[in-house]
Amino acid sequence: MASNLKSAKDLVVFLGKSVIAFLESMVFTIIPKPRKNVAGEIVLITGAGSGLGRLLALRFARLGSVLVLWDINKEGNEDTCRMAREAGATRVYAYTCDCSQREDIYRVAEQVKKEVGDISILINNAGIVTGKNFLDCPDELMEKALDVNFKAHLWTCKSFLPAMIANNHGHLVCISSSAGLVGISKLADYCASKFAALGFAESIFAETVVQKLNGIKTTIVCPFFINTGMFEGCSTVRPFLLPVLEPEYVVDKIVDAILQEKVYLYVPRFISFVMFLKSILPVKVSLLVADYMGALNIMDGFVGKNKKE
Ligand SMILES: NC(=O)c1ccc[n+]([C@@H]2O[C@H](COP(=O)([O-])OP(=O)(O)OC[C@H]3O[C@@H](n4cnc5c(N)ncnc54)[C@H](O)[C@@H]3O)[C@@H](O)[C@H]2O)c1
Repeated sequence: MASNLKSAKDLVVFLGKSVIAFLESMVFTIIPKPRKNVAGEIVLITGAGSGLGRLLALRFARLGSVLVLWDINKEGNEDTCRMAREAGATRVYAYTCDCSQREDIYRVAEQVKKEVGDISILINNAGIVTGKNFLDCPDELMEKALDVNFKAHLWTCKSFLPAMIANNHGHLVCISSSAGLVGISKLADYCASKFAALGFAESIFAETVVQKLNGIKTTIVCPFFINTGMFEGCSTVRPFLLPVLEPEYVVDKIVDAILQEKVYLYVPRFISFVMFLKSILPVKVSLLVADYMGALNIMDGFVGKNKKE
């Protein structure tokens, strides 16, 4: 009897909280959530030497954040550092770090803690792509893709999460991809790494919820193709539904999602509809949809800058 009463009470509490959470999310789709202030926050961006990483650095520079920029490409990273200063950042630190090497990440992370302080916003953005049929992918390139696109997230979080937990303050940002939501031909290693990064970020989010660390936020970003050169040569056959995105547009969306503390960001929004279709349609129909969208041959024409023959 007592256990029945407890179950009924649990159900009422659960339904009440769900209705409030649902209404809250409805309100925030109509009225944008207030944006948080990131002035003075220490923001680390991996892969800051070009593309999204560079543009993110420039946005956070304008917002008054302290910037810690990591890239394997020293020259590109130093260019971003200079551009961030020109954009108004007063404290910018560039470090050369090979994110495919756990020991390099741990070494540079220690240096950052001593020289700059505790990271409060960690943006795992560095990424590479091989872009070949699975059996044509050299083992070392597939390992590298997993190391940079996924494992680096483990090591950076191991390095910087403890201080976030101690202060109950921080924000973990995972730049995954729409390729972290659906498998794509000629992107087996890339998709695997992006699914893994997403799963890891979602699990850490769950840990922060269970541990009631409500000061630590998570944002997981899943964009479609972006015009940064990474997927050079790839095109979309239904641009009205899935356009190749401009980097500035994507970075605006990412920064907004971080400032509004959104957990998931799909760019364009149509990606969330694709996810819904994937979960409800029979496989044969899903494949027809994917074919109609051109997703089955999307890597044809790929000449991306990280492609190695
Ligand atoms: N471009 C797209 O179409 C697209 C779509 C979805 C997601 N993404 C993701 O967005 C992120 C940024 O991509 P981008 O389009 O700006 O590409 P990009 O090639 O312009 O930038 C990637 C950066 O990562 C750096 N990098 C590569 N290997 C590294 C390593 N071992 N250690 C440290 N830095 C390393 C590169 O030097 C480069 O500066 C990536 O994670 C990518 O997978 C890109």
